[in-house]
Amino acid sequence: MNDAILAIDTSCDDTSAAVVRGGNQILSNIVSGQTLVHERFGGIVPELASRRHIEIIESVVDEAMRAASIAFASVSAIAVCKGPGLIGSLIVGTAFAKALAYVHKLPYIGVNHLEGHICSAFLKEDGPPTLPFISLVVSGGHTSLYRVDGRAQYRELGRSRDDAAGEAYDKVAKMLGLGFPGGPIIDRLAKAGNPRAVSFPRAYMPQTLDFSFSGLKTSVRSFLTQNTKQIPIEDICASFQAAVIDVLIKKIEWSAAKENITSVALSGGVAANDALRQRITQLKGIETYVPPKSLCTDNAAMIGAAAYEQFLKGEFADMRLNPKAYLPVGKIAETKRS
Ligand code: KG4
Ligand code: ZN
Repeated sequence: MNDAILAIDTSCDDTSAAVVRGGNQILSNIVSGQTLVHERFGGIVPELASRRHIEIIESVVDEAMRAASIAFASVSAIAVCKGPGLIGSLIVGTAFAKALAYVHKLPYIGVNHLEGHICSAFLKEDGPPTLPFISLVVSGGHTSLYRVDGRAQYRELGRSRDDAAGEAYDKVAKMLGLGFPGGPIIDRLAKAGNPRAVSFPRAYMPQTLDFSFSGLKTSVRSFLTQNTKQIPIEDICASFQAAVIDVLIKKIEWSAAKENITSVALSGGVAANDALRQRITQLKGIETYVPPKSLCTDNAAMIGAAAYEQFLKGEFADMRLNPKAYLPVGKIAETKRS
């Protein structure tokens, strides 16, 4: 069966298009970031993000098709991220995908962005992690734990009650005057710092698998206003990062124990963090999978992987599909055949 899916993701500040065959074979995965557009503002400016998507989406899709050496006649479906994300950015991707599907008379599939992150594990070259597995999606917009029993079979176990971990990285980097996005910068500086230099709080909340990172962020802010000892920035970065990672690791252990599961996969931009990638491999008795960094941060290949199950079941969207800024995982399973 010819099952190559052209996938598009414009949920935030990356314009991405990919061609994925069989839900697991990446033929191309093009990502065009917008750091240069947003960095002088210290964060993503939604209106500028949507304008930039409009400017480059056509060339990104062309590039994905060229890199995959495929023609539309050999594509079986168009998949697009329908949310959650920045609504203006999502509208650009979904409108473009609709137009392509209409012109090329192809089925059109709407994919939840978080389901895309979960499904990056299904792009693992030698087959997906052992099922069932725990998926930690840790990005700029979300920090959530899922139990994954198979493609399109997810149950949320916990989520952040306030800031996402990546958001905390970005906000702390901004407080430290480090630039945007903050995660990779803090990751780099922390390598030269002492993680025990400052004792920042860890919101373990043992009664739940939910997360909370806003207290840590506030604690860094008040530390900075009182930092009379002139602690080096590397030590502050390392101490902040240790507080984030300690909580993430603890929640992974608790969720695996609670669900009696010994397999864990990470995804989302923060999963590109070197310290987290290293710490997770040290978990005893747990098989871990952390995708290559290019599949942790936003990309369309993960959307192509997540779309595959709907493609097989014929769960296609129609031209009335509108993106949603807020869209919990699970809604997608309720999509009716049309
Ligand atoms: O998944 P992603 O590309 O976009 C969202 O869906 O949010 O994640 C972006 C987030 C940003 O907050 C960024 O600072 C963070 O991922 N990030 C990192 C690293 N690389 C990206 N955080 C920590 N360490 C990194 N190396
Ligand atoms: Zn994302």
